Amino acid sequence: MKSNRYPRATAILEEMRDSIEEGIIPIGIFNDQEIYQMEMEQIFGTKWIFLGHESEIPEPGDYVLRYIGEDPFIVVRDESGGINVLLDACCHRGVRVCKAEQGNASHFRCPYHGWIYKNNGSLIGMPAQRKAYNGLNKDEWGLVKVRWEVFHGFIFGCLSPDTPPLETYLADQKYYLDMLFGLHEGGTEVLGEPQRWVVNANWKLAAENFSGDDYHLIFLHHSASDIGATPYSMFENMKGYHIHAGNGHCVSISLERGRDGSENELPYWNFPKEIYEAFDLDSLDEKQKEIVRDSKEMLGNIYPNSSFLVMSVTFDQHSDPVPFFSIRQWRPLGPDKIEIWNWMFMYKDTPESFKQDSYRAGMTNFSMSGIFEMDDTLTWETATWTAGNHFSKKNLKLNYQMGMNGMGSAEIDPDWPGPGTAYYPRYGEGNQRYLYTSYLKDMLGEKEEGEEENTNGKDYSIHR
Ligand code: FES
Ligand code: FE
Repeated sequence: MKSNRYPRATAILEEMRDSIEEGIIPIGIFNDQEIYQMEMEQIFGTKWIFLGHESEIPEPGDYVLRYIGEDPFIVVRDESGGINVLLDACCHRGVRVCKAEQGNASHFRCPYHGWIYKNNGSLIGMPAQRKAYNGLNKDEWGLVKVRWEVFHGFIFGCLSPDTPPLETYLADQKYYLDMLFGLHEGGTEVLGEPQRWVVNANWKLAAENFSGDDYHLIFLHHSASDIGATPYSMFENMKGYHIHAGNGHCVSISLERGRDGSENELPYWNFPKEIYEAFDLDSLDEKQKEIVRDSKEMLGNIYPNSSFLVMSVTFDQHSDPVPFFSIRQWRPLGPDKIEIWNWMFMYKDTPESFKQDSYRAGMTNFSMSGIFEMDDTLTWETATWTAGNHFSKKNLKLNYQMGMNGMGSAEIDPDWPGPGTAYYPRYGEGNQRYLYTSYLKDMLGEKEEGEEENTNGKDYSIHR
């Protein structure tokens, strides 16, 4: 078991495996170098990680620079229109060959000795080739390629040959993502460039927040609600569901038609009527249609560190709410630091003026200067700081018990129409416990037999 290489971290995680049954988590996991190194191997070395969207690289030669764990990858469309995910490291000495965050290039040339790679990763030449490398088989020395797959235009990459295909990996989360991103025949597109900024916080705190920490809405974000930024009260917004969607993925849906049977006055996530009337609902089953119609807000985490959000905000008390989509990646930069990547999306075939409003709605609320985002990140920073302090690290246990038996009002809803286990209302921390239970299985190498197996028999070996 790989975890034996990290005896101290393993001891903390084994203690957590016992205590999480009681809803208790040792704070030490949120700021520990050894745990972080284990995560790079056990989590980021094996999971599907969001890299970007096809609309970011529409033309041959278009590329963006992205990351899985600590490793940089060039996500590039080659001359034949195919996507490649190439390790940004020259095969001669490991020097990085991509010098910009995005651009268009037919070739990448290493700045050290000048090896030249085509935009499909092939090595095609170098200075003084005949004298220096007469006998070299260039076919064997292209940039390293890793697996990638596309789902609704979203590009994911994976470093392990053993992880199952993306759709299998997404498990029940696929059902909920289909509801969001499969609604328009033309698909979605990125609005502008992704924003990115550094926050002194552990990546898991962000992932667990987007897994469905809705309890903080009624306190941390009440000021946003007080100034009228949200079209409904935060307490009202607690009506809804937390769903365990398989493989550690989580969803949280604010759904007006709760158990009281009330009608949703702002259906389809508050999209304007002319837009939701064009939704391609035929692509959904009856249960999905019902959930989409009644949803006010939906967010979730694609385990481990890719999150999504659709919600709506009002610019002032006289205007209609404007919905926006945000996809984010909590890129780890160490045990106490993340780079937040934030992409705004919209359905491609919607009016330009609506896209601009949606972008503004997203940016004013969820971005480095967004009023919700600033609230959130400050709390994640102080929690991470606490986790690194000598006394706290050893002694502070955290309470994740909301929604456990006899603790609050959340209960499993056996009538939930969608897949996964659903709890109502959103006063619960079951999604966080579910996230960390999956995390522990991965970290301690205790996956049950048959779990996450490669189901279609394809060879996914890393190849050049
Ligand atoms: Fe790239 Fe030498 S390190 S050509
Ligand atoms: Fe928040």
